[in-house]
Amino acid sequence: MAMANSAEELVFNPPELVAKNAHCSSMEQYREMHKESIKDPEAFWSKIAKEFHFENNSVGKFFEYNFDITKGPIFIQWMKGSRTNICYNCLDRHVLAGKGDAIAFYWEGNDPADRNSVTYAELLSEVCQVANFLKSRGVAAGDRVAIYMPMIKELVVAMLAVARIGAVHNIVFGGYSADSLCDRIVDAGAEVLLCADGVWRGNKLVHLKEIADEAMKMCSSRGVEVRLNVVVRHMTRVTHPASLHDTSNGHPAKKTHFDHQGRYKVTWNSDVDVDWETATSSSSSECPVVWLDSEDPLFMLYTSGSTGKPKGVLHTVGGYMLYAATTFKYSFNYHPGDVYFCTADIGWITGHSYVTYGPLLNGATSVLFEGVPTYPHTGRFWEIIERYKVSKFYTAPTAIRTLMKYGDEPVKKFDVSSLRVLGTVGEPINPEAWLWYHRVVGGGNAAIVDTFWQTETGGHVITPLPGATPTKPGSACFPFFGISVCLLDEAGEEIEGEGEGYLVFRQPWPGMMRSVYNNHQRFQETYFQKFPGFYTTGDGARRDKDGYIWVTGRIDDMLNVSGHLLSTAQVESALVEVEQVAEAAAVARPHPVKGECLYCFVTLKQGEKFTEELVADMKNKVRSKIGPFAQPDYLQLAPGLPKTRSGKIMRRVLRKIAVGDRDFGDITTLADPTVVELLFENRPANA
Ligand code: WTA
Repeated sequence: MAMANSAEELVFNPPELVAKNAHCSSMEQYREMHKESIKDPEAFWSKIAKEFHFENNSVGKFFEYNFDITKGPIFIQWMKGSRTNICYNCLDRHVLAGKGDAIAFYWEGNDPADRNSVTYAELLSEVCQVANFLKSRGVAAGDRVAIYMPMIKELVVAMLAVARIGAVHNIVFGGYSADSLCDRIVDAGAEVLLCADGVWRGNKLVHLKEIADEAMKMCSSRGVEVRLNVVVRHMTRVTHPASLHDTSNGHPAKKTHFDHQGRYKVTWNSDVDVDWETATSSSSSECPVVWLDSEDPLFMLYTSGSTGKPKGVLHTVGGYMLYAATTFKYSFNYHPGDVYFCTADIGWITGHSYVTYGPLLNGATSVLFEGVPTYPHTGRFWEIIERYKVSKFYTAPTAIRTLMKYGDEPVKKFDVSSLRVLGTVGEPINPEAWLWYHRVVGGGNAAIVDTFWQTETGGHVITPLPGATPTKPGSACFPFFGISVCLLDEAGEEIEGEGEGYLVFRQPWPGMMRSVYNNHQRFQETYFQKFPGFYTTGDGARRDKDGYIWVTGRIDDMLNVSGHLLSTAQVESALVEVEQVAEAAAVARPHPVKGECLYCFVTLKQGEKFTEELVADMKNKVRSKIGPFAQPDYLQLAPGLPKTRSGKIMRRVLRKIAVGDRDFGDITTLADPTVVELLFENRPANA
């Protein structure tokens, strides 16, 4: 390790233990493989495709695409004409190879007393039962099925069952509100929902079914009828937090959601609701797979859009499969015998690619964790790592920063010496958190992989490889195989060597999104319009003198709260739904744990007062329209907003005000520059 004053000069070589048996064990090997993957993608990926089951060999071209909107519609196709099924490749392939008894998942509940495990063979038969049940209720290839579940085995079963019969899953994160769930069901036109009754997150109870019921009612008023809701009665089998039994002051959930016998109450609509267990246990545990074209849709996953309306990012079967499997294998240097633990929720892309598909495609053994990192104590992750001797661990910078606050002690209480690779994802990681992760969690012996990617990219696109890449704290390092990174300036000119610009990719890779569901136009405009010939990530990045890539964050109106991407427009439209609010502008303000938090400026209608009650109403509105994680940290009354003469809000100035920085830059183009000083003077006391 070379010490220097900036993170750019700090370099950590791959730990010996990791480099020894790495799939890619030197920078020379990396460069060679990367070069081949760019120059001859067909040769590179067709070799990998041979490890998977395809019903027939590809007819026609291995891949075809157009990235240049000026030449015609954007399209990307890999292995079109080849028929496969991802569920078959995740389960049947391993079971047929005699690996059915291997553990697919160790499940750790919110309460440490709740634990079990499931093998590949068991997973396969449960998936078949659910698939058969769905078929019996008329679910067919191409149908969209919404899933709203906590981190339980049934969530994995649900997605694989849907994939097995060629339907398209649309998973909605369990922290989303009824409004958000409804939007995602309506846009996808999903008639079937798979959910759970409820879930404990630490001491907090989330009433999933209640939220789903509300969402279905809203859907109905928007013309989409959910005809079937399969409900896992999860609450009947979990240990409730001790506080629920405390009679002295009583848990708030107890009064409203538990009956006299202490059973969790749910309302049941027998026209729509069926009990998961009853419905599926009588179905056959064998179910033939539906062979799909590699380019048939596998899933859609909604991500924030800068206009406020979420986009249904669409992934297809074949390319996504190759890419999720290959990135998992190389980025975590996965080997049989590893125990892998990814803390992400399956409701986000990280959970899709690196809880379910990547690990299962590699026949890996993983930990599936339902709870939160601080319950019942702040060493929960480390306890789990010790229990299962986890060797590969993947989490988010915001989680690392949260846990860092408790110091080294909670980590030291447990034996985490099994760890070899430590991954992070979701936002740029600050060097301080990186170094703590490396020193305290990894004991200096584990490789840190800061993986940059997006819902849209399907898998890692810029990442170190644990046995090969010398890492720099805070840099995602180098492009993965198949990724051709470019930095462009505003004029679209390529920045060679050192410099900072728009992060774009020059050619397609198998795992990239194919479209925005039902809106190909929006796909083209969002990702291909600004720089014809390139996929635009929406992030900025810097290349240092050694060629390392440092992702600097979003350059559009998106913000990243605890690794959750939100658009300012989404938050603003929620705020203006509050009756008293005339106009709102939301910006990101740096936050020590969340990475970024929301700072909102609101203009009220004539005669309205900025009361505490109104502030609470506004916060609640954002929570109910989007979800609790989106709640603004700061709300400031704004008599006016800094706008250009053409009426565009100058967010750059608002971001400065949010952090208390008077260095506003050029504000002469504002219609009324005095408003800036006024806003600055009236920053809220807590800001
Ligand atoms: C940000 C999550 C820096 C980035 C997989 C990206 C990162 C957005 C990193 C995608 C990282 C993710 N370093 N920034 N390692 N990982 N981001 O779609 O702004 O939820 O565009 O996918 O998160 O968020 P999404």
